[in-house]
Amino acid sequence: MVLEGKKIIVGVTGSIAAYKSAFLVRLLVKAGADVQVIMTLASEGFITPLTLSTLSGNPVLSTFIDNERGVWNNHVSSALWADVILIAPATSTTIGKLAHGISDNLLIAVCMSAKCPVLIAPAMDLDMWLHPSTQQNIAFLQTNGIRIIDPGYGELASGLIGEGRMEEPEKLLDILTKHFLFSGSLAGKKAMVTAGPTYESIDPVRFIGNHSTGKMGFAIAESLALRGADVTLVSGPTELTSHTKNIDVIKVKSSDEMLQSCLDNFTGSDITVMAAAVADYKPANLSKEKIKKNSKNLDISLTSTKDILAELGKQKHKEQILVGFALETENEIPNAIRKLESKNMDMIVLNSLQDKGAGFGYNTNKVTIIDRDKKITEFGLKPKSEVAEDIVSYIVNSLT
Ligand code: CTP
Repeated sequence: MVLEGKKIIVGVTGSIAAYKSAFLVRLLVKAGADVQVIMTLASEGFITPLTLSTLSGNPVLSTFIDNERGVWNNHVSSALWADVILIAPATSTTIGKLAHGISDNLLIAVCMSAKCPVLIAPAMDLDMWLHPSTQQNIAFLQTNGIRIIDPGYGELASGLIGEGRMEEPEKLLDILTKHFLFSGSLAGKKAMVTAGPTYESIDPVRFIGNHSTGKMGFAIAESLALRGADVTLVSGPTELTSHTKNIDVIKVKSSDEMLQSCLDNFTGSDITVMAAAVADYKPANLSKEKIKKNSKNLDISLTSTKDILAELGKQKHKEQILVGFALETENEIPNAIRKLESKNMDMIVLNSLQDKGAGFGYNTNKVTIIDRDKKITEFGLKPKSEVAEDIVSYIVNSLT
């Protein structure tokens, strides 16, 4: 999804790991990317251009002049076409040429003309990898903005064991996906997300809660963080944790604690997404002692909790984006619009319990986003991580 329509040049050079380039190209094409393969002549001894042109759906380029087709392969226009260039595998020769500006083949000329990011995944035998000239070239490229995807450790084609194996195609796909997520850039932005249920204590051992797992809120926090935002995640009681560097998880129990934490963190927040299933009512009186079962019926008097989202809506400045959720079982759209307006949100994410596979406990969800202009955008049933992506992409687009 993230790679849909992305223009990616895959550079292939003369290493036995070139066979993995076929899997890489296949994965990228399956992810929706538009892939242009550029091979060095040496790589054609390891894998045929026919294999890679068939998998990519585009003729492979390898020389400046293509005598067969009678065309000049313009390295500058290829370079400007690409959103990203990944050389996988990158041999020590290619790394050396790139580091020293020796553009005697099409791939190096394209890389040197590029304005987009260039990533390289080295592959070579361990002693070549550790050789001072390779290490020096790598260090030079790295300090000049080229991203090096470190080779892995394991058995090498020579039979030796050590560092030098090209990173696996699945991992390269993941790295490119994350690359594009980050480049959506929320760097420098602060975000706050609420997640999970709240527990409203009845006595020291009992509470009123709900079935929210927190998955949606955590997925949104991850997605915001992947794009570079600093995220404060205010979470009710859930089993989930986050180890992501730029997510600060604040664990709370009750709606009152969640309210306080949100008020403490809202002022500096550029983007706030309220995905928690906050209790609407709490016991009017908290019993200090455990309630004994000494009568047949028990009435617990409830009083409404503060609507956290509405409180933030009152404080919100024009530049702050406030996103809420609505869980509805009937009159979904009119009810959601009413909530959007009454709580001063910028957009509302509507979950309908009428959709199979959506809502509490499922790993999937189906949402509709409604914005301030009452524009309605429906999304399909997807894993919660992808729904989070849709929501965050929608927010990012609204910023530009
Ligand atoms: N919300 C909140 N604080 C509350 C109740 C709700 O911040 N005390 C937020 C939720 O996180 C969600 C939005 O308000 O983003 C809508 O919640 P929902 O339960 O659908 O709506 P309510 O406004 O509580 O209305 P109702 O239960 O009557 O549908």
